[in-house]
Amino acid sequence: MQDQPPIGQAVLEFYKVLPFNYRHSVAEHAQQIRARDAIAAYSVLPPLLRDPAARVLEIGCGTGWLTNAIAYHYRRPALGIDFNPVAVERARAVSRALEVESQFLVADLFQWAPDAPYPLVVSLGVLHHTADCVGAVRRLCVDFVAPGGHLLVGLYHQPGRRPFLDHFQAMEAAGASEDEMRDRFGELDSRIAEETHLASWFRDQVLHPHETQHTLREMVPVIEDCGMTLVSTSINRFQPFQSLEALYREEQGYAEIAAERLAAGQYFPGFFVFLAAKRA
Ligand SMILES: C[S@@+](CC[C@H](N)C(=O)[O-])C[C@H]1O[C@@H](n2cnc3c(N)ncnc32)[C@H](O)[C@@H]1O
Repeated sequence: MQDQPPIGQAVLEFYKVLPFNYRHSVAEHAQQIRARDAIAAYSVLPPLLRDPAARVLEIGCGTGWLTNAIAYHYRRPALGIDFNPVAVERARAVSRALEVESQFLVADLFQWAPDAPYPLVVSLGVLHHTADCVGAVRRLCVDFVAPGGHLLVGLYHQPGRRPFLDHFQAMEAAGASEDEMRDRFGELDSRIAEETHLASWFRDQVLHPHETQHTLREMVPVIEDCGMTLVSTSINRFQPFQSLEALYREEQGYAEIAAERLAAGQYFPGFFVFLAAKRA
């Protein structure tokens, strides 16, 4: 099974031109990883990474910030796969610059499978760019995660993504040029200063040839059907939760939050993350 053409092919060609989160130099990528442990933003990961038995598989690693940061900050074995050879080449170069033991493979997540399942599998911002997001989540749960292991997935949220997409679609409909839309994106996401980096984020967020949006309510039955249970989610800021229904109610408020952030001139991509555990 391969990510179905024409979607998989279009997504691959799009990222070959400029991978997501690409910086102008290897040194700059490496410096960003050294300077700050960006993994800490995903607060459920550090406790799992401190386990001496942790081995990490990242699906759709792109330029490898996560896999290389795991190797650098947590000294755990980590393998990243991505079907874009341009991104993987950069990830390997950053690994060499950091002198860490991360590994990278050029592979399509629908075709490749690990020799043995992993205790921790991570995939951020990837599966919603495939022709079959639910099928991809199933594949990770069933074939990639070891019994007793964990899966962390990040996806665009429906309806939390809508205000952002509507904003740029309205600009385009009103005749805005690509440069004007990129400048607007740069205003919203003021973290990004460097030109190549900004272009790589803008293309990924605004010009992408294929994305789908999802909900926790949709994903929980999928993971449960694969023998996994929900442990934690960014929907309630990774706090303990009373019930799934309470989380489903909370996620309905995502569109409103997104609209408020946009009105305040802040970047809000409409993205959510969930951590699932597989029965031992
Ligand atoms: C938005 S980027 C995210 C990259 C990385 N996870 C990060 O957080 O920086 C999406 C990545 O998914 C990869 N991808 C999409 N479909 C894939 C597939 N079928 N197999 C492997 N990688 C895929 C793309 O090449 C791209 O690097």
